[in-house]
Parts: sequence; C-alpha cells; structure tokens
Amino acid sequence: MCGIVGGIAERSITNILIEGLKRLEYRGYDSAGLALINGGQVLRERRVGKVANLEEAVNESHIAGSLGIAHTRWATHGKPTENNAHPHISGDVAVVHNGIIENYQELKDDLEALGYVFTSQTDTEVVAHLVNDALKNTPSLLEAVRQVVPQLKGAYALGIVHTDHPNELITVREGSPLVIGVGIGENFISSDQLALLPITNRFIYLEEGDIARLTRTSIEVFVDGNRVERPVKELDAAVSNASKGEYKHYMLKEIYEQPEAIQQTISQALNGNALRDDFLKNAEADFSKIQQVQIIACGTSYHAGMIAKYWFEQLINVSAQVEIASEFRYRSPVIVNNTLYVCISQSGETADTLAALRDTQKRAAAKNLDIATLTICNVATSSMVRETDHSLLTLAGPEIGVASTKAFTTQLAALMLLILKIGQVKNTIAAENIETITAELWHTPKVILDTLQNNEAILRLSELFKEKQHCLFLGRGTQFPIALEGALKLKEISYIHAEGYAAGELKHGPLALVDNDMPVVILAPQDDMLDKLKSNMEEVQARGGELFVFADINSGVNEKDRQHVVKVPSISAVLAPIVYSIPVQLLSYHVAVLRGTDVDQPRNLAKSVTVE
Ligand code: G6P
Repeated sequence: MCGIVGGIAERSITNILIEGLKRLEYRGYDSAGLALINGGQVLRERRVGKVANLEEAVNESHIAGSLGIAHTRWATHGKPTENNAHPHISGDVAVVHNGIIENYQELKDDLEALGYVFTSQTDTEVVAHLVNDALKNTPSLLEAVRQVVPQLKGAYALGIVHTDHPNELITVREGSPLVIGVGIGENFISSDQLALLPITNRFIYLEEGDIARLTRTSIEVFVDGNRVERPVKELDAAVSNASKGEYKHYMLKEIYEQPEAIQQTISQALNGNALRDDFLKNAEADFSKIQQVQIIACGTSYHAGMIAKYWFEQLINVSAQVEIASEFRYRSPVIVNNTLYVCISQSGETADTLAALRDTQKRAAAKNLDIATLTICNVATSSMVRETDHSLLTLAGPEIGVASTKAFTTQLAALMLLILKIGQVKNTIAAENIETITAELWHTPKVILDTLQNNEAILRLSELFKEKQHCLFLGRGTQFPIALEGALKLKEISYIHAEGYAAGELKHGPLALVDNDMPVVILAPQDDMLDKLKSNMEEVQARGGELFVFADINSGVNEKDRQHVVKVPSISAVLAPIVYSIPVQLLSYHVAVLRGTDVDQPRNLAKSVTVE
C-alpha cells in the first residue's frame, strides 16, 4: 500500500526520505517518487518499480533540499506509470497522498473547466490543483489547505509543500494514518512510524480531521481552524512489533541476525578465500600511496575503530590512529599528507563524524595535501558515503535498536576486509595470510551461531547483575575495546554504571573499586595474553570480586567459587573480538530486560545523533 514520508530540517533530507521509503517497502508498492523544495524550485524525481530505481535517479540528478515529501504508490486510480507516481505538482505546489479521493472526478471536471491541465490519471492530482487554486485567495499555505479539505470526500492523508513556503510542511490526516516524528531542529511526517525510527522515537499521532503545520522548530495542529494540543509520545512499541517477528525486542532480533549480516558483508568482497578483483578497485591507487590511517568515529563505531587500529598495525604494518570525532574536529588536528581518513558510522549521518570529515577535507584542500577518505557505513545513501572518496558498506540491514549490535560486528568484518585489501595493494601481507584470515572470516558466522547457544546460560548469569549498581569489564589487546563496548552496552540499556578497562591497567585505579559487590566481566579468548589475563583475574578474586568470564573452551578457565564461566567456541585470536561481542551483547540485553528498561529506545538516547 502507499506510503508517505516527509520532513523539514536544516540538513538535506534526501537520504532520510529515501531510507524512509525503503522502510515502507514491505507494504508493497509499484512506483516511488520524491519532491524537494530548494532555491524556489520543486525538484522532483519519480520512478516505476523499486525505491532503488528512485535512489539511482536521485543519485544521478544530485537533487537535495531540506524540505520535501516522498511516496511509494500502490496503484488505485491509473496504472503504475511514472506520470501517475507521486508527488503531483500544480504550479508551485507538490502533494503526496495516501487513500482515495472519492469525488475526484467531479472536482477534476470543475478544475478542467477552470483551465487546469491534468498530467496523470490519479485522484491525487486534484488536490495539487485545488491547493494551487486556493492560493489565489490567500497567501497562507495552511489556509489554502484548510479551504480545500472540506471539498474532499474519502479517506486520505496528505503531505503538501510549496516553493514560496520553504519553511513549512503541511499535513492532513482524514481517515488514513499519519504520524509526526518530532526531532531536534527538524520534524518529519510519515504514514508509518517505522519509516522514522532511525531518526526519532518521539511521535505525535494525529487524529482524524487534524491539519498540521510543521516548521523546523514547531508543530501546530489545527481542527476546524482552531489550534489543538496533541501529546508527544515515546515510541509505541506494540505498533512496530510486526517487524520484530518472533523476538521481543529489535535488539535481540538484531543480535541473532549477526551470522547472516556478517556473511552478507564479506560476500561482497570475497571470492572463495581470495579478495575479489573488483573489491575497492577504484581505491587501489590511493591505497598504494597512503603511509598511515586516521580513523574517526563515535560511540560503538569508535570501538570498532579501536580494534582496527590493532589489526592495521599487527597484520599489515600500517600505522593507524583512532579518535572520537567530537574531539578530533575541535582540536585543530594536523592533517598529514598521504593519510587515509576512515569514517566509521552505522548511519553515515552522525553530526560530529560528518563535521570532522568535512573539516579534514577543507584543511587538506587549503594546504594542497594528498589525502584519501573512506567511509564504512550501513546506509548506502548517507552523507558520509557520498562525501568520501571511497566507501565500504556493512550489509547489516536496518538496525532499529538504539544500542548497536549487528552494525558493530559487520563494521569489524568490513574493517578486516579493508585491511586485507590495503595490505595486498601495499604488499605488506603474505598471500597465505590473506587466505587464512578470509577462511576464518567465512567460518565466523558459524562460530557466532554456536556462541548464541549460550543464550540461556547468559540469561541465568544476568540474574546476578539485576540488583548491581556498578560493573567492570576487562580485556587485553583487541578485547580491550570489547570491554569498552560491553560496558557501553550495559550502561546504555540497563542504566547500570559500567566501566571497561584494559586489564593491564587494573592496578592503576579500578582495583580500588573491587569488592564483593562488584561483578567483573572478563573476556578471555585463546590468545597470547591469556596467562597475563589469568593473573588479573587472580588479583580481582583476591579482593573479593565476583568474576564472570567469557572464555575459550580450551582456555582452561573453569567454574569455581565466585567465578562463573561461559565457554565460547574456539576462534582464531585475530577474529576473536567479533565473536566476543556476542556474549557482552546478550548479557546487557538480559540484564536490561530483567530491570524492565526500554531496551530498544533507552532513555535520553537517539539512534542517529545528527546534532552536536
Ligand atoms: C549513537 C548510537 C550508537 C552509535 C553512535 C554512533 O550514540 O546510539 O549506537 O554507535 O551514535 O553512530 P553512527 O551512526 O555514527 O555509527
């Protein structure tokens, strides 16, 4: 069925509209289109078939704008052709519409008598002409729509924009669903909140007969010309349950999707145990020149970058730095010639990462430096993907839970592929090492599947965290960032204060916190650091700390008093961080569920942080 997405923001919303339409694809449709208001013009693209066709057209025409409406059409009046696809335009008005205008024929006759020419067979086009006509009597777009609505019979929802009104989006709900997604400095509309979940979890559910006027910073709702208040509600989980399938939360579903998501991500780059010839082909010249790598990211994506730093240096002998984007962008970093700048971002829209990228590009251009930029991202149409020289997609599918899970592990898989490619181009890794690692990468989904078998055991352990106020996560080497990630997950969804530490730092501070009320989570894969880690475990136990160890089945770490052990299937030390992400995700998830928090939409947090 038809779907509407629209919005008004500071930034260009082209990608948000496209992504929104994609999230409505499950509803079934036969054509798609969008219109953006920019520079006193309506910029429109429409295509028959999939949203991907529209996306391709938009990428080619580069249309952009911060005010716009978009639509997936399921044909009712008129065949599925480009001319019949929405938005429909009359003069300077553009309209998207769900539902049916029952009296469209008589309205059409009247409009034709007035000289309006119809370019489609749809019922929708009458609305565009009626609003255009009403604007002869009033300069107010809202008032014009208000005059048109009583003339329309049927059940419908509308999104309306006008070139002379670049600061407002008008929407109408009359028998067809329409929600307003409330953002910060930006507001959106959709026929289904699912389309807007990556942007906000705050919604106004319009009532039948409501007409609303959205600006970037305000939402006014009117009934019969009188202003009314409609409450802003946090996500109504029940409504979006359908797409969670058998799972209670998106987060759990996304945890279980990881084997497949990783397989998808590596499939694009590998041919058997070799890198495909066309994988990042266009980047080869840049890769051969680069001397070092600077990774920029936020949140969970930053933790993926931290692991990549170990990999870059250990595996291909390329120096790599990683920095939180909000720090990088404001500390006047020295931009260095022959550096590859890598942005890691699930959304590709995170404000700080994007600003850091743009700033880097500006500084490099000012000094005529030769740098290259690359994005690792889950959203093909995102700003970062468009604005960097090269990109590598994580094919994780939409991630809805605010706490990132499958985006993180697919970022790790993608980073490993990138590292192998750079090593191959620079000839700093032996061919047989590439083969060994790619063979292990192929095996990772199976190891994750086996690791997921520990779900029940982890659920039982999580009971012991339920009443805790604090928790420590420890790991060494590439497990240090996993310790940080485990602590981040636990704090963001269960609201338990948690810290991640490099186990070697234990004696430099955190040991002072350890007592018999302090759970300490240990990440213990089979690697060179295992013996040292075991010493750290002794130090914790000697202070009465209770250990929760995720340990390789061959590690020799066993259950004992105040030491709980979950055995993790064997995996090569190099890929262990991908696999050890799983138990920390499950632990946080179960603790959060037991504590009754809002797992998918934790308080105060947003999925996509597009403001500073
Ligand atoms: C928010 C999300 C995190 C995410 C971070 C960076 O904080 O809640 O899950 O890791 O933003 O987002 P990005 O889209 O750039 O990866």
